[in-house]
Amino acid sequence: MKGAKRILLILGAISIVIIILSRCMTAADKLPRDIRGDAYTGAATCVKCHKDLPQSYAHSPHGLTSNLVVDQELLKVYAPDSNSFSFNEHQKVVVEKRNDGIFQVAYNDGKEVNAQKFDIKFGSGEKAFTFAYWHGKKLYELPLSYFSSINNWAISPGFPANTFYYERGITSRCFECHGSYVEKKLTQKSAFSMDEEMEKGSIIYGIDCERCHGPGKQHVVFHIENPAEKTAKYIAIFKTLSRKQKMDACGVCHSGNTLMAHQSVFEFKPGDNIDDYYAQDFVGFGGGNPDVHGNQTTMLMGSNCYLKSETMTCQSCHNTHENIKGNLNIYSQRCISCHQTTNHSRETLAKGALTTNCIDCHMPKESSKLISFQQAGKDQASAYMLRSHRVAIYPDRIK
Ligand code: HEC
Ligand code: HEC
Ligand code: HEC
Ligand code: HEC
Ligand code: HEC
Ligand code: HEC
Ligand code: HEC
Repeated sequence: MKGAKRILLILGAISIVIIILSRCMTAADKLPRDIRGDAYTGAATCVKCHKDLPQSYAHSPHGLTSNLVVDQELLKVYAPDSNSFSFNEHQKVVVEKRNDGIFQVAYNDGKEVNAQKFDIKFGSGEKAFTFAYWHGKKLYELPLSYFSSINNWAISPGFPANTFYYERGITSRCFECHGSYVEKKLTQKSAFSMDEEMEKGSIIYGIDCERCHGPGKQHVVFHIENPAEKTAKYIAIFKTLSRKQKMDACGVCHSGNTLMAHQSVFEFKPGDNIDDYYAQDFVGFGGGNPDVHGNQTTMLMGSNCYLKSETMTCQSCHNTHENIKGNLNIYSQRCISCHQTTNHSRETLAKGALTTNCIDCHMPKESSKLISFQQAGKDQASAYMLRSHRVAIYPDRIK
């Protein structure tokens, strides 16, 4: 009897201590931990207050631009009749569902010579999906990619056209533009080359809130503790950034793939100067030939709209939190907000629909010089088309 009473007393004391301790826990302690460090909290926390935004984020090309491959979803992607790709009469790669996943299996004269699993996908599928498989702590690109313009498989861009190839490494650099974080380990292999290993479990797939807005824990803690405060604190206010800062916030991923990063761009946050992250790209800025793929920033900065206005940024036409894909009428209204009157020749005016589609004439689709893809049985590679962000008069396309 006496023993039981003592146990009850002890239990009571313990629960009181727990209650007191939990009261001492600050708002910050209660937030989920984020692998990027103490300043971050993760998208799940952001959407608790910003309820209208998860929709636009989770289903947007930014949010979906990298992910683990979920077998059922992948099976939906390809048609059952197009799961085989022949390089020539001897060699082919077949997309096969097996017990432990979906594989790209290489055959030489009917004999299996390699089989690697779809582990990770890059791209939201807007234009393409590229896939990667793990080998230890290294990622490699699979030989076939899926292209939306043909609804079919083709050889991954830049791969040999006449045989399957499984050796192309995918580095953390892909995640710097297509993801939000990956932990990597670099070791010096020789005087000129580094060996990189990545931690699977550390990857934050897709581009999340804090990738674009910067670490947000302090912002969250402040607004939990001050629910009456309706002005945002401890987070970059986009409106107050300079024009260059706004351009840099997008340019960190939209300035082309040739830039050399001298520090990880995962840490880039709005307000930072892109030049602190990248060595200057002399080819791009020095009157070179920027590509429509991945380099919207340099293309736009070469337009008269950009050069002769003081305010044009990506936000003049894009709002990351809305989805108006394909609605060229809405985009055209954004042109008209600066161009209330235009001097079109009678000939141009005769083409009609001038006010609802400025885009196809002044931002035509062009084929990328860097990316093309090889379909089976075709002599020439197929073009990868993107909008030109050099807004201009393109006489040859129009007349
Ligand atoms: C406890 C509630 C709360 C949480 C959680 C929260 N915010 Fe906010 N946030 C606010 C309030 C309040 C404002 C000010 C009113 C508004 O603009 O909606 C705001 C405004 C913002 C703004 C607008 C800044 C501007 O340009 O005016 C951004 C960006 C933002 N939050 C990002 C985030 C991110 C990223 C996260 C997750 C890391 C997050 N918020 C989590 C409450 C919250
Ligand atoms: C690809 C980059 C990007 C991602 C990802 C992103 N945002 Fe934004 N967000 C922006 C930009 C740019 C603006 C400023 C828009 C403007 O001023 O035109 C903005 C504006 C906001 C605002 C101000 C109100 C509004 O609707 O304009 C809030 C709040 C916000 N973001 C929260 C979030 C949250 C929460 C997430 C994750 C669910 C998120 N953002 C993901 C780029 C991004
Ligand atoms: C962390 C890198 C990153 C940042 C920062 C970023 N983007 Fe992107 N953006 C991408 C990638 C990668 C894609 C391709 C997504 C896919 O897989 O379809 C993309 C796609 C887009 C698209 C086409 C798809 C769509 O949503 O319609 C637009 C427009 C765009 N970005 C605009 C912007 C603007 C404007 C900013 C600055 C506010 C910005 N991006 C910031 C990486 C980024
Ligand atoms: C400097 C940033 C950057 C790097 C590095 C980068 N990409 Fe991209 N990637 C983009 C942007 C921006 C887009 C979308 C717009 C475009 O094509 O201009 C894109 C588009 C794509 C698409 C098509 C997405 C879709 O839904 O249409 C795939 C697939 C892709 N990238 C894979 C990769 C892979 C794999 C790597 C690494 C080998 C890589 N990217 C490296 C910025 C980058
Ligand atoms: C922020 C304001 C702004 C926006 C938005 C804008 N422009 Fe412009 N644009 C300008 C200015 C300023 C000029 C230079 C006018 C001049 O030289 O008198 C210009 C020039 C042009 C020119 C002449 C180009 C040349 O090389 O001579 C064309 C064509 C044009 N814009 C089309 C467009 C289209 C189409 C859109 C929408 C996709 C658009 N603009 C959006 C400000 C803007
Ligand atoms: C003058 C208007 C305008 C400006 C400014 C602008 N864009 Fe675009 N952008 C467009 C239009 C129009 C499209 C085509 C949209 C569609 O087809 O739904 C587009 C498409 C895109 C795409 C998808 C690629 C493709 O070819 O489908 C990306 C990525 C993109 N923009 C990024 C950017 C970035 C980054 C900036 C700033 C450097 C920027 N844009 C500035 C009008 C603009
Ligand atoms: C059918 C193709 C076509 C369409 C649609 C079109 N333009 Fe043009 N635009 C041209 C051509 C061609 C020129 C050169 C002058 C000419 O021959 O008419 C031009 C010239 C311009 C100029 C430079 C002359 C000036 O007015 O200063 C601007 C700005 C411009 N367009 C803006 C726009 C805007 C904004 C829209 C949509 C509301 C638009 N254009 C729709 C073909 C087009």
